[in-house]
Amino acid sequence: MFKHWKRDIQAVLDRDPAARTPLEVVLCYPSFRAVRRHRRAHWLWTHDMKLLARLVSQRTRRLTGIEIHPGATIGEGLFIDHGTGVVIGETVELGDNVTLYQGVTLGGTGKDVGKRHPTLGNNVVVGSGAKVLGPFKVGDHSKIGAGAIVLKEVPPHCTVVGNPGRVVRMNDERVDIDLDQVNLPDPVKERIMALSARLDELERCVNCERRTQDAACSERAERIRILKEELENEDL
Ligand SMILES: CC(C)(COP(=O)(O)OP(=O)(O)OC[C@H]1O[C@@H](n2cnc3c(N)ncnc32)[C@H](O)[C@@H]1OP(=O)(O)O)[C@@H](O)C(=O)NCCC(=O)NCCS
Repeated sequence: MFKHWKRDIQAVLDRDPAARTPLEVVLCYPSFRAVRRHRRAHWLWTHDMKLLARLVSQRTRRLTGIEIHPGATIGEGLFIDHGTGVVIGETVELGDNVTLYQGVTLGGTGKDVGKRHPTLGNNVVVGSGAKVLGPFKVGDHSKIGAGAIVLKEVPPHCTVVGNPGRVVRMNDERVDIDLDQVNLPDPVKERIMALSARLDELERCVNCERRTQDAACSERAERIRILKEELENEDL
């Protein structure tokens, strides 16, 4: 137990410049309290005392503003900065040294059954207000920007920002993608433009054909007129 405590306190001291002493962490940090209480709730959950486990987890929510389902599996060194509004779903799996800020949801989309919540690798950071929804993996050392909504797998060593979440950095290299979410392409308009261009082309072909036919007709008419004149002259 004390080994866990030491690791939890160190996680806060390492990652929050505002934390000054271990005593301050023990007395003032909701993350420390929530993680400790979650271990208790998780033990009850896995030893078939599910209702008791839920009661412990709900009381933790009231005390800290952090709701961790007792079924969630969390690694060592989890740090939840500020805490309020954090929700961690039943089938979430967290690696070691994960950092979550306030308002983070690790939840489901409502479409999956069984494993329906995300798995976060080691050293993942999830910014304030970010939502990670669905049963996919966020790779080791990846960062989810504040306010991002992530619905797809994130490879390791990536930074994801925006809604929907997009990878903007991979292995410390900038990924050049179009982040313009206002001027989005309109596929219906593009199709209509392509059809209109084809129609113009067809009209040009038809007009050309008609002109050729007109020219042939007038040539034939001219020949007939000449023949008529020749016949009239012969009669004379
Ligand atoms: C994403 C984050 C972790 C930075 O990761 P990083 O790998 O260092 O990424 P960068 O700072 O190089 O940013 C990469 C790009 O994403 C953009 N970006 C960064 N964070 C963003 C966010 N939250 N939303 C939208 N875009 C963001 C940057 O402007 C940059 O764009 P550019 O390349 O066009 O200039 C950080 O911005 C963040 O959101 N941290 C969360 C912190 C938090 O929640 N604090 C709460 C304290 S109470």
